[in-house]
Amino acid sequence: MNATQEQLKLKIKAAMGTAFGAEYAEADPMLMTTNNPKFGDYQSNVSLSLAKKLGQQPRAVATAIVENLDVSDICEALEIAEPGFINIRLKTEYLEAQLNRIQTDPRLGVPITKNPKREIVDFSSPNIAKEMHVGHLRSTIIGDSIARILEFQGHDVLRLNHVGDWGTQFGMLITYLREVCPEALTTANALDIGDLVEFYKKAKARFDGDETFQKTAREEVVKLQAGAEDTIRAWKLLCEQSRQEFQIIYDILDINVKERGESFYNSYLAAVVADLDKAGLLEESQGAKVVFLEGFTNKEGQPLPLIVQKTDGGYNYATTDLAALRYRLQQDQAQRLIYVTDSGQAGHFTGVFQVARKAGWIPDDVEIVHVPFGLVLGEDGKKFKTRSGDVVRLRDLLDEAIARSRADLEARLQAEERQETEEFISNVAEVVGISAVKYADLSQNRTTDYKFSFDRMLSLKGNTAPYMLYAYVRTQGIAREGNIDFLNLGANVKIFLKEEAEFTLAKHILQLDQVIAEVEQELLPNRLCEYLYNLSDKFNKFYENCPVLKSEEPVRTSRLALCDLTARTLKLGLSLLGIRVLERM
Ligand code: ARG
Repeated sequence: MNATQEQLKLKIKAAMGTAFGAEYAEADPMLMTTNNPKFGDYQSNVSLSLAKKLGQQPRAVATAIVENLDVSDICEALEIAEPGFINIRLKTEYLEAQLNRIQTDPRLGVPITKNPKREIVDFSSPNIAKEMHVGHLRSTIIGDSIARILEFQGHDVLRLNHVGDWGTQFGMLITYLREVCPEALTTANALDIGDLVEFYKKAKARFDGDETFQKTAREEVVKLQAGAEDTIRAWKLLCEQSRQEFQIIYDILDINVKERGESFYNSYLAAVVADLDKAGLLEESQGAKVVFLEGFTNKEGQPLPLIVQKTDGGYNYATTDLAALRYRLQQDQAQRLIYVTDSGQAGHFTGVFQVARKAGWIPDDVEIVHVPFGLVLGEDGKKFKTRSGDVVRLRDLLDEAIARSRADLEARLQAEERQETEEFISNVAEVVGISAVKYADLSQNRTTDYKFSFDRMLSLKGNTAPYMLYAYVRTQGIAREGNIDFLNLGANVKIFLKEEAEFTLAKHILQLDQVIAEVEQELLPNRLCEYLYNLSDKFNKFYENCPVLKSEEPVRTSRLALCDLTARTLKLGLSLLGIRVLERM
């Protein structure tokens, strides 16, 4: 909801109060944006629901509301449509005033939140010694965009990378490396992450088939947990190795996230179990310490347990998340916790949140949300793999996006007989390639699975990054062509609206605040993508129908200001998706 709707709602409520008595001042005015301009901009259908209660005809109810409703500063004369809809059309002067107001506002009319919170976004979170995969890519892109939006709203956001840097995999890996590549455990950069992943696979195979190996690996885990010097040194080296590789990806994607991995919570794990015990929640089940969950049963109808300490005394993923949750609430003083992972982990988080709640660790005013997303699939609708059936390395994937976008660009340059510098080409190729990957992911409703297709995401047509970037380039092209500096259109630029395409574009621009508020609530960046896509579309229609540079003053400046507003809205919106714009492409 935006400021205009807010005002209208208040006024309609007041009118209902005056017409039917104070208790009706609390009814929801049921105000909706109309899809068809024939019905104006908003429509209220509250009369239909009040009619029954009041024992009157809807039309009579609507008439009574309208008689008591003074919105003449915002709207044209109100109309009542059968059977009792109230149609509201915004006044042109009102729209123009709004546009002229946001024109001078770097935030384009989007207010800073009145209720700033400390929020934590837990995202990306790959695992050390394992390859970062497409699932982590989704978490990274979606989590970053959510963080950007919350930051823009004025929240105090802590971006956390909960990397998997602890646990039994290190026992196996260290044991194996001691055998086959001991220098990797004592010298920095002796391996590349690709090798590490290979070693990890081999170590796992040994672990599964060789008892002596298993025993040594387990001892190595105990040594790690006890802080034995050489094991810790080896562990640190392995972590550093992975970290460097992850950082390359973060740099390409322009991601900023603070690493606070699972190992960080190691010293808090025992207290988690002890406190669950004190709270009377802990039970033994087949030698493990568990908390039974409410509302979750197995096939036999027995309650499902959340294991917090394994039979061998070790702690697990859930224990770590419980410790992390407590730390984030107590030490970080977070008021909202957001976890961005694939939907496969929904059960895990439901369990962890339920146990924390039962233990009384979650204050009433704190909100804890799992933000799930679907799988990344190949174009064939099956699991995303390389042609040879391997897991796709993220770096290769991003490199390919850039290479393909470069090939597209070079073909276009040739067709248009344009000469550009290498610097220009590589910059455009990179921005377009990376934006395409990000946008393709963000423009999907995250809860659905999504098919990864280079061809589709790099296409200049449709709801894609290149289309959006191109719309921006077009606005800048107008400025170049007319030798116009948008920043200096003049202090008293006045936008005024006449043509239908101008109205449509202007009204859309004025909805940015509403869209951003919605994305904050629902944590669905695809809403913002949709908004931007429609904006580009409406801008293109405006551009086709309304000459800009060829118009006479004052129409010319007014239209230039609309172009500038469109450009700034696109640029701001895309930046909240983690996408940079280009002046030319
Ligand atoms: N490392 C985990 C994985 O790769 C994701 C961690 C998500 N965050 C959390 N607090 N559990 O699946």
